[in-house]
Amino acid sequence: MAQPLEIGDDVRTSTARPGSAARPYPLVGDDLLVPCVDGIERPYLAFDAAASTSALAVVMERVNEFVPWYSSVHRGAGHKSRLATNAYEAAREAALRFAGRGPQDVAIVCRNTTEAINHLAYRMRFERDDVVLTTVVEHHANLLPWRRMAQCRYIEVSAAGTFTAGDVADALDDGPLPRLLAVTGASNVTGWLPPIDDVIDAAHARGVPVLVDAAQLAPHRPMPAAADYIVWSGHKMYAPFGAGILIGPRATFEHGDPFLAGGGAVDLVDLDEVVWTDPPDREEAGSPNVVGAVALHAAIVELERLGWPAIVEHEERLALKLRAGVSAIDGVRLLGPALDSGASTLAVASFVVQGVPHALVAARLSAEFGIGVRHGCFCAHPYLLRLLDLAPDEIERYRSEVLSGDRRTIPGAVRASAGISATDDDVDRFLQALQSIVSTPPAVLYEQDAPTGDFWVDHPAWDAGGRSLGASCGRG
Ligand code: ALA
Repeated sequence: MAQPLEIGDDVRTSTARPGSAARPYPLVGDDLLVPCVDGIERPYLAFDAAASTSALAVVMERVNEFVPWYSSVHRGAGHKSRLATNAYEAAREAALRFAGRGPQDVAIVCRNTTEAINHLAYRMRFERDDVVLTTVVEHHANLLPWRRMAQCRYIEVSAAGTFTAGDVADALDDGPLPRLLAVTGASNVTGWLPPIDDVIDAAHARGVPVLVDAAQLAPHRPMPAAADYIVWSGHKMYAPFGAGILIGPRATFEHGDPFLAGGGAVDLVDLDEVVWTDPPDREEAGSPNVVGAVALHAAIVELERLGWPAIVEHEERLALKLRAGVSAIDGVRLLGPALDSGASTLAVASFVVQGVPHALVAARLSAEFGIGVRHGCFCAHPYLLRLLDLAPDEIERYRSEVLSGDRRTIPGAVRASAGISATDDDVDRFLQALQSIVSTPPAVLYEQDAPTGDFWVDHPAWDAGGRSLGASCGRG
């Protein structure tokens, strides 16, 4: 039974996990059985960590321990409110520590990376002609918020989907100096890890601050402490309770209207006056997501306990095995940097199967093998169009079809992405399934639906009620 917490208790969870021989770093829900169309139930293989991860066991334990003590944060005199406020502020401190930041910075708890970047785009208080330099590698969260607040310039990529720090330096010099460089720490599509320290140095040498989008980086590699702004999401970091983080210099948030207006963000209000309070509270109007913050804190502590050397060693081995295995299958093209390029990647493999629609590959992996992946453009349309090297007439054709409500020809790829709980056996199982899809016809009849572009199996193992939603991968 959960022990009562005391105000001032260290809310970090540092108990060593027993783990299991099969999965050194298990997640809640690993190996749940799911139905397949041959009537067999198979342990679900979650190879979609780049989209969202399950909870670490310690995260779930910490949430269960905390929820009986849940109460209002920053707006309650009772014991439980004081305890909840303490837990919330401890999570904020942990986020700063995890990102290697100090007292000159603030950590703002928000929903996720998308909200964090929208928040910052508002708080940068851009003038109409201000420029944000970003890259075509970014997912939509690190493209669209800038476009409606400032002028954007883009760093292009090679055919392998990469750029160099030299390309960044050239782009910084190619026009008016940007107010900000906004760049990913790791691609959600190819798993490519840009040379982020050199990229930051190139910007800083010109006096340009840098936002690093760490949505993909945070759970897998240490964050670059030299970044001026850093954002990430709990739901990709084994803490799926709706909290994300925006970190930046306190000075950015000290003046001007906050992104959200409301209670908790003010010192004084009258009908014709508002005095905003100091950051970070100034930036967090409304009752905060304390459960999400507590969950994120527990994930941070667990990753710190495991240590980066162990995590990186485990995930680099998986990355190599996964990407080498996908590349070795005839008729499959791995997108992104070549294996022998020396580029570092996460355990992510996005690929196309010659002659088989990406949506059908994903449907077969699920229906016949119990494997969950994502397909489509992964909320990164500009990057996918470049990786797929589509001609302008192909782009125009699918655009008009999508605009008419038909997503059957939308271009894309299949993405397998592994997180901390994946094992070598999981990679072998995935590669065998992919090999089987390449070399054998479907075991059942799949019908493609125009509105979603997804393939459907009319089989009791699939829930007929969900057909209109499909896999929902076609939307980005
Ligand atoms: N960025 C998330 C993904 O890559 C949504 O799937």
